Amino acid sequence: CGIVGYLGNKEAAQILVEGLKKLEYRGYDSAGIAVYNGEEIQVVRKVGKLGELAQEIESKPPKGIVGIGHTRWATHGKPSTENAHPHCDCTGKFVVVHNGIIENYLSLKEKLIAEGHRFSSDTDTEVLAHLLEKFYDGNLVEAVKKVVAMIEGAYAFVAFTEHEPDRLVAVREDSPLIVGLGDGEYFVASDIPALLKHTNRVYILDDGEMADLTRDGVKLMTVTGEPIDKEVFTVDWDPEMAEKGGYEHFMLKEIHEQPEALRRFLVGRLNDESVHLEELNLNPEEIKSYSRIFIVACGTAYHSGLVGKYVIEKLVRIPVEVDIASEFRYRQPLIDESTLVIVVSQSGETADTLAALREAQGRGAKVVAITNVVGSTIAREADEVMYLRVGPEIAVASTKAYTAMVMAFYLFALYLGQIRGTLDTEEIQKAIAALKQIPEQVKWIIENTESEIQKLAEQFTKHENAFFIGRSVDYTVSMEGSLKLKEISYIHAEAYAAGELKHGTLALITNGVPVIALVTQESVYEKMLSNVQEVRAREAWVIAVALEGDEEIKKSAENVLYIPQTMELFTSVLAIIPLQLLAYYVARLRGCDVDQPRNLAKSVTVE
Ligand code: G6P
Repeated sequence: CGIVGYLGNKEAAQILVEGLKKLEYRGYDSAGIAVYNGEEIQVVRKVGKLGELAQEIESKPPKGIVGIGHTRWATHGKPSTENAHPHCDCTGKFVVVHNGIIENYLSLKEKLIAEGHRFSSDTDTEVLAHLLEKFYDGNLVEAVKKVVAMIEGAYAFVAFTEHEPDRLVAVREDSPLIVGLGDGEYFVASDIPALLKHTNRVYILDDGEMADLTRDGVKLMTVTGEPIDKEVFTVDWDPEMAEKGGYEHFMLKEIHEQPEALRRFLVGRLNDESVHLEELNLNPEEIKSYSRIFIVACGTAYHSGLVGKYVIEKLVRIPVEVDIASEFRYRQPLIDESTLVIVVSQSGETADTLAALREAQGRGAKVVAITNVVGSTIAREADEVMYLRVGPEIAVASTKAYTAMVMAFYLFALYLGQIRGTLDTEEIQKAIAALKQIPEQVKWIIENTESEIQKLAEQFTKHENAFFIGRSVDYTVSMEGSLKLKEISYIHAEAYAAGELKHGTLALITNGVPVIALVTQESVYEKMLSNVQEVRAREAWVIAVALEGDEEIKKSAENVLYIPQTMELFTSVLAIIPLQLLAYYVARLRGCDVDQPRNLAKSVTVE
């Protein structure tokens, strides 16, 4: 989603809509603005593309020189006018625009309702407006401080009230927010492109900071009110670079977004005790009746399904078949009412996956979709949907959608295990504790391996062939790592189950050939070590991805990229991160078009 705010002397509506247009690349399904016309706040909201809102505003322009705006990209819940931002309290005197998630909104909402507040949307955001109204005592900054002390989650928001029409208050906690300094005018935005036309002088807020914008200037402080001194940052990005958040490519931006995206994926889907996927509307009796599960998808989504098979079979003890959608649909799959079919698709539009969904439904199976795009064809046609909530993915090579898909299978397996009784409370709690750490661990990997991978990439670029090997879930990660490398760097890459190498492919392992060995599985560690030694004996260049603390592997691998310890079944979501970075830096050094590799498309809607 995108946020824009304006406080100056020009007509705000036009500036807000222009700013929002610059954020269209973030995706949108509804948009709105709130402008103060000297008497009251006028809110205009529209479902659909931004053009709809722009048209409405052009025909009846709300007058005023201060206001806030938002474009929404539904991550859960349907796109509708009621759910579009800005959101107001019941009096209409307090408005907010917000990105991210207020994790404890349900309990806050219940309390507010008991106190007489009436809600008009299903969003977590609306809670903010009501809380502001409740705490307001003549000073918006003080009210915002009280609200921030009550809410939990990852968010950024801008608050505005007609009681103080010359003031905007903006807060950042784990979701980007910047303040723009113009000539007698001030801006606030989630992303730089929204304000680049007006100013290149900005404050970049850090987590736990807030900005108080008035006609006298901008005051920065912590959310508890301690004043902050911050340097003005002069943006020298061109507009294209600005869209990518300062990264050279969308792919790199999306790799870096993963900690936040995965955190958002988990919100509301687990507590310390259990997994909550009631959003799927699967009744326990039905869940107990499944005799077989099919996972059907294409490309990267298919690779996430392979992880799904290992995890579901291990934790739930139901046989799982994973199929490439274009194969599944033509082989008269053996499905009946006790079969559950899960289709996985980032875009929700892939033609083969959609056809597989229809084939499965035609044969009487229930179909659950795992997808990122609310309102996509697959989301609409599936019986039930689990959304990835990772925000728009623009680079053709999928990164954040893949890791969220893998997380979706972890949660789904735990949920099934919980209901079918194949997991006891202790096992579930242990798994949940491990899952909660994943977003931080992903962040750790990026921070600790990126510069080393950049150096490795320089050596890697001159090679034309590479091999990825692993056992158990590491084998599935090998496939995804190999796909990433080949699709964006055009280096020929193959993935092998490490134990299978000796049945043919070992003939290709010669002096200096890069072999990326995934060594994260304790249960097959010794076996994997022998496979690494097999390729080392043929003088391969071994780059290992291993668990922190594994010193042994250093004896057999020339380079080791470490990932933090987690449960054995959950390593895939971590082990892929260094491989994404490796593919990216190698492709970049080879001068490839990273975001739009030749011959490929983000969403393949032909069969
Ligand atoms: C295309 C993309 C891949 C993607 C596949 C499936 O081939 O280039 O990155 O994995 O489609 O896409 P979906 O949207 O169904 O996940």
